[in-house]
Amino acid sequence: MILFMANASATDLLMTWFDAHGRRLPWRHVGGAHPNPYHVLVSEVMLQQTTVATVGPYFARFMDAFPTITDLADASEERVYALWQGLGYYSRARNLHKTAKIIAHDMGGVFPSDHDAWRRMPGIGPYTSASIMALAFNKTAGAAVDGNVVRVICRLHALTDAVSDIMPQIRALADDMVCATRPADYTSAIMDFGATVCTPKNPGCDTCPLNNLCAARAQNLVDQIPHIVKIQKQERLGRAYLIRNRAGQIWIRRRPGRGLLAGLYEMPWTDDGTPVMDNADAMDTGITVTHVFTHIKLTLELHIIECDAPDIDGQFINPDDLGAYAVSTLMKKAFHALMKNGIL
Ligand code: ADE
Repeated sequence: MILFMANASATDLLMTWFDAHGRRLPWRHVGGAHPNPYHVLVSEVMLQQTTVATVGPYFARFMDAFPTITDLADASEERVYALWQGLGYYSRARNLHKTAKIIAHDMGGVFPSDHDAWRRMPGIGPYTSASIMALAFNKTAGAAVDGNVVRVICRLHALTDAVSDIMPQIRALADDMVCATRPADYTSAIMDFGATVCTPKNPGCDTCPLNNLCAARAQNLVDQIPHIVKIQKQERLGRAYLIRNRAGQIWIRRRPGRGLLAGLYEMPWTDDGTPVMDNADAMDTGITVTHVFTHIKLTLELHIIECDAPDIDGQFINPDDLGAYAVSTLMKKAFHALMKNGIL
């Protein structure tokens, strides 16, 4: 046994580690294909750009509200957005809803089990389709390569070049490492390993099951790998307007169905400080909120306009009813800041 382990591949060692240390997660099935591909679809979309810890309660609430793909397909967009509120990247919710409609209505509720069909679904990129193929169908469609997998592969092979320059090499090495006999468990294993052992900071190298095979460790390069060249975020200064009438109601509008924060409600705002209404006296509250999007760091100065008939799209609502409208995290910050300062 000791001899065998000394010669074991990284894949074998990883699978042995997973069998002992893999996480139990609400959407996870261990030992082959997940019996409910709907759970895999929803969790994988939620887990794009979002951590396991954050997704947990959202996944539970979503499954309570929409236990099957048909329930999700038949739900109103409003309700889907409401349950997504706070997870961010709302285009994911819109695309997931569209995918549910395609599967429930056009495909008779039968989940496709081939990679190309998944790639054609809205919002399903190469990573998510590969992970769905593995987790839901126990089929290999290449490795599902996310940030965790990039880190593990780069460290194992001591790849010091900028990750963005060597993605084809990383993908090829990741494909080679997949456990062909257990694609589903392997996909969970490498995710867990990257999230709990081969972590970005303070990785657990001393107890790592792959430490004897790790070229970065041998060359004392673990802290420098992966080499990620950060894109400088653009900074923007904009304004948001709390438009209030004499009855104390506030004006909200709904964003268009496509693009940034699609379909969500908001107080009117602009990202460059231009006014939203002509001839309106806006008062600067001196309060600002900041939110970081993928490529932009946006700061909004919060202004108040007293007006009974705004000449822009939207509607007056009672501030107490705000909870019934799906708003972005940016807007949550703005409304909370106004509440905290006794303005709302
Ligand atoms: N990240 C993306 N998909 C995941 C999953 N199924 N489990 C844990 N982390 C993940």
